[in-house]
Amino acid sequence: MGESRYTLADVRACNGRSGAPVWIIYKDSVYDVTSYLNQHPGGDVISEEAGTDATRAFDDVGHSPDAKTILAKFKIGEIIEEEKVYDANGKKKKKVVQVKPDNEGGRSCLNIVTCGLVG
Ligand code: HEM
Repeated sequence: MGESRYTLADVRACNGRSGAPVWIIYKDSVYDVTSYLNQHPGGDVISEEAGTDATRAFDDVGHSPDAKTILAKFKIGEIIEEEKVYDANGKKKKKVVQVKPDNEGGRSCLNIVTCGLVG
């Protein structure tokens, strides 16, 4: 049994609104922290990050190793390979900029511009 894989869109949908659970991303792993919201020291600030990548917010606070151990308990899976931010060495991947179509007239194109990777 492998680990579950989720897209960024999957996580975004779990934003705590309308009874949805609260998922966050920390370094490409996905956590369902719904049951921890009310236990968080200093109040529920986690909801502000619901559905998003909370890596920066989490690290900026300077959480203790203890906090990381707690976080680990809520892991439910990982972001799919294509949408991961870190490579296998834990380094940040080069940025992939996705230009979404304007969504008009049924014409649809998706340009994926990879910055500085080729050449
Ligand atoms: C989602 C998983 C999270 C877990 C498991 C977690 C856990 C903890 C724990 C155990 C502490 C106590 C101090 C420590 O051990 O470092 C703490 C404090 C704190 N956390 Fe988190 N945290 C999480 C997310 C966040 C996020 C996303 C933010 C910011 C948006 C945040 C902001 C804070 C702040 C400001 C404190 C200090 C609160 C105080 O002592 O008054 N935490 N957290």
